Amino acid sequence: MIRIFADAEALSEAAAALFVRAAQRAVRNTGRFVVALSGGQTPRRTYERLACPECRDAVPWEAVHVFWGDERCVPFEDPRRNARIAHEALLRHVPIPAHQVHPIPCEGDPETAAVRYEALLRSFFREAPPRFDLVFLGLGEDGHTASLFPSHPAVTEPRRWVAAVPEADPPRVTLTLPILNQARRVVFLVTGARKAEILRAVWEGPFDPLRWPAQGVRPGPGRILWMVDAEAAAGLSRIW
Ligand code: 6PG
Repeated sequence: MIRIFADAEALSEAAAALFVRAAQRAVRNTGRFVVALSGGQTPRRTYERLACPECRDAVPWEAVHVFWGDERCVPFEDPRRNARIAHEALLRHVPIPAHQVHPIPCEGDPETAAVRYEALLRSFFREAPPRFDLVFLGLGEDGHTASLFPSHPAVTEPRRWVAAVPEADPPRVTLTLPILNQARRVVFLVTGARKAEILRAVWEGPFDPLRWPAQGVRPGPGRILWMVDAEAAAGLSRIW
């Protein structure tokens, strides 16, 4: 499923509204809303929109738990840190209980961080299936998503929920496809002309997740949505 928006602002407004509806529905149905945020620059405006009173006041923050799909192993103060980006744009502006924000513990080496984050997830989900209500993801120009990079073994990890990517610069930690694909809803946010070529490859090229890891995100029918602006969609030969 793909929805095309006139521009990045319209997409961000729609993505924020989707978050609000998903949070209200999840809390109504299960008593909590468990979301994994994406890193990178694309979602920043969505996070800022969520911090605006109209969205902020419509989200049951007291029942929201925030995780991340991936993280760079840099100090919190580093502007590249995904948790810092979300904190600055959203989390410090909304009444979410601090203990319900679960940043990836990526101080130190990435493998230790991966083991610690997976333990945190297993403790949080307990016997329940590790099912995020919503996962926001981005798309890199090489087809990566989260920190699942082309040809990296993390892409084909069959069991672990979290993998280390020590080869990245800076080193990273990422959720793997086994947990991403259990999500109730995965939403890709893709904007800008520089994503047009890779979006076409991911959507219209051969199925090759090792080459384009974003193709490996297949949570099942009706559980994935691509929110794309017109610039990024310009390379698509047909509207899906
Ligand atoms: C990250 C993200 C990564 C990102 C894409 C797109 O930590 O950087 O998880 O997968 O979503 O690289 O990044 P932009 O939104 O900055 O284009």
